[in-house]
Amino acid sequence: MCNPQCVMSGVDALKERMFCVLLHPTLFTSLISMLLKLFASLFGTIAAYVFYGILRVLYKQFTSLWRNLPGPTSKHWFYGNLKQLMNDEDPTVQEQWVQQYGPTFKYHRFFGRAALYTADLKAIHHFLANTETYQKSEWARFTLGRIVGPGILVVEGDVHKRQRKIMNPAFGPAQVRELTEIFVEKSMQLRDSWASQVANSSGVVRVDALSWLRKTTLDIIGLAGFNYKIDAIGAEDGAPPNELVDAFEALLAGETGFSLARFLQLRFPILRNIPFKQDKVFSKAQATMMRIGRRLLADSKREVSENGTFETGTGRARDLLSLLLRANTSKDLPTNQRLSDVDVIAQVPTFLVAGHETTSTAVTWALLALTQNTAAQTRLREEALGVSTDRPTMDELNALSYMDCVVRETLRMHAPVATTSRVALRDDIVPLDKPFKDTTGTVHESLQGESVLIPILVLNRNFELWGPDAMEFIPERWEKPPPGINAIPGVWGHMLTFLGGTRSCIGYRFALVEMKALIFTLVRAFEFELAVPIAEMGRTDDIVQCPIVVTDRVAGNQLPLLLRPVSH
Ligand code: HEM
Ligand SMILES: *[C@@H]1O[C@H](CO)[C@@H](O)[C@H](O)[C@H]1NC(C)=O
Ligand SMILES: *[C@@H]1O[C@H](CO)[C@@H](O)[C@H](O)[C@H]1NC(C)=O
Ligand SMILES: *[C@@H]1O[C@H](CO)[C@@H](O)[C@H](O)[C@H]1NC(C)=O
Repeated sequence: MCNPQCVMSGVDALKERMFCVLLHPTLFTSLISMLLKLFASLFGTIAAYVFYGILRVLYKQFTSLWRNLPGPTSKHWFYGNLKQLMNDEDPTVQEQWVQQYGPTFKYHRFFGRAALYTADLKAIHHFLANTETYQKSEWARFTLGRIVGPGILVVEGDVHKRQRKIMNPAFGPAQVRELTEIFVEKSMQLRDSWASQVANSSGVVRVDALSWLRKTTLDIIGLAGFNYKIDAIGAEDGAPPNELVDAFEALLAGETGFSLARFLQLRFPILRNIPFKQDKVFSKAQATMMRIGRRLLADSKREVSENGTFETGTGRARDLLSLLLRANTSKDLPTNQRLSDVDVIAQVPTFLVAGHETTSTAVTWALLALTQNTAAQTRLREEALGVSTDRPTMDELNALSYMDCVVRETLRMHAPVATTSRVALRDDIVPLDKPFKDTTGTVHESLQGESVLIPILVLNRNFELWGPDAMEFIPERWEKPPPGINAIPGVWGHMLTFLGGTRSCIGYRFALVEMKALIFTLVRAFEFELAVPIAEMGRTDDIVQCPIVVTDRVAGNQLPLLLRPVSH
């Protein structure tokens, strides 16, 4: 079979020889059979894995303490009740389930697989307090990790503890006090942009408040987060996109939404190394994000080294990234607790994910609520106009008592993050406030933890805790809050809006003052009216829950408002 050229030296010869070997009939067939065997064993392994997975699920389904719980029937062979949970068909479906079945019941996930739902306060407290056992799901960490890298949102266990400890001081009251100037300055820029649009028209103008507020919070997190000018408010329509925003949006677009490829990657980690169609755009965006992150880090390092460390700090930089670097130089910090460059760079997209859309939607919902409660809008405006400066400090903003009520009521009624979830890493018994009776009549005092939802919005609007008007926007309730809410394990305001425990929102003080600065500045300048009938407003639950005009879904999430200048 082999021709004489086979007998040669060097690499070429080797290649040729392999070629000859391949052509040799007996070797050829044995190679094929080897490959077949390999495929068979690979396939066998996968099949066994799937079979094992199914058995494990079935075993859990038939042995779980809550298998006989009542609850809604599965609505779809594949999605179960998940679509009902996630979309806006009926925004109060969870509240209805709690009303009908009590705080603890069973619902259905993919392939109709039963899962536990509980709004029981003791159980929720247990999930939030035991972060060693209850962690973010693989799915959440995998998708989020591809966007932000190993930032504080993604990591668990000791790595999280270490990052959180270093990051905490950067989010303290003293730091937020310093950042207030940025919040106010950017709020005024938005105000002026709207004012010039009003001046251009006949005294009333229609704006999409959501998109403008998004631009504003993006500018704010850029400056306050890492001393980076995004200038989304000032950008001309059609101007070339900012590279950071561009990269960030490509990352989000690549990872959100459901795709079969992602589903399979979740189930079979080996597939995660296979690039999919959108991965090219995605990798490019990741690389851009990394490059900008490195540059921002280098800038911050230079600033900190020129202008002093945490202890001696005379530095001017007040952005979160520089604060992190200063904290990293603190003498009290053991060397093994320090942050690496990669850790710090990962916080850049982390702050964008965590701190931008959450706050802009919160302010959007506040404005929507104020159009429906004009008495509250007027009272709030009067209080704000009572302040003698356009540039209030954090303490001046926090001294506005009705503003505080409006912000609390907004975050209660319209918590931007409506639910979050956790998965139990080990067998665990969950204590319950209210024992439940299953369909066989057996009463259970506790249940097993597994994959759990934390129903933030549902608890924020629970009738038993908040009273019969729980579903209404009434800022005055905060003048005398119901005592029952003290049992809610939230880090702020007896609500779960910023969650609770060691994984609660690290940026809640930042968010609250930012919201107040925006609402203060806007309500002093404009009167707000909803531009469409209220019946046309709905809610979508993307990453955060956003308002949408149901008669114009193609336009995406929006809040159309009519603005009139306030006459002094
Ligand atoms: C109204 C605005 C905001 C709301 C409603 C909100 C809500 C939340 C919630 C519910 C969580 C927990 C998520 C989970 O574990 O499933 C969280 C975590 C977090 N938030 Fe916020 N957030 C807001 C604004 C901000 C801002 C402005 C920042 C930063 C500047 C921020 C930074 C973070 C970070 C870093 C985490 C992760 C903390 C950890 O895992 O240790 N958030 N937020
Ligand atoms: C005001 O109107 C003029 C002419 O219609 C237009 O060129 C300009 O861009 C408008 N300005 C704003 C802020 O809308
Ligand atoms: C250090 O602070 C001064 C002002 O105090 C500032 O002008 C300078 O740019 C800072 N250095 C760096 C590298 O940012
Ligand atoms: C934090 O400090 C350690 C030790 O001083 C240093 O090796 C590390 O590079 C620092 N991290 C960053 C992001 O500068």
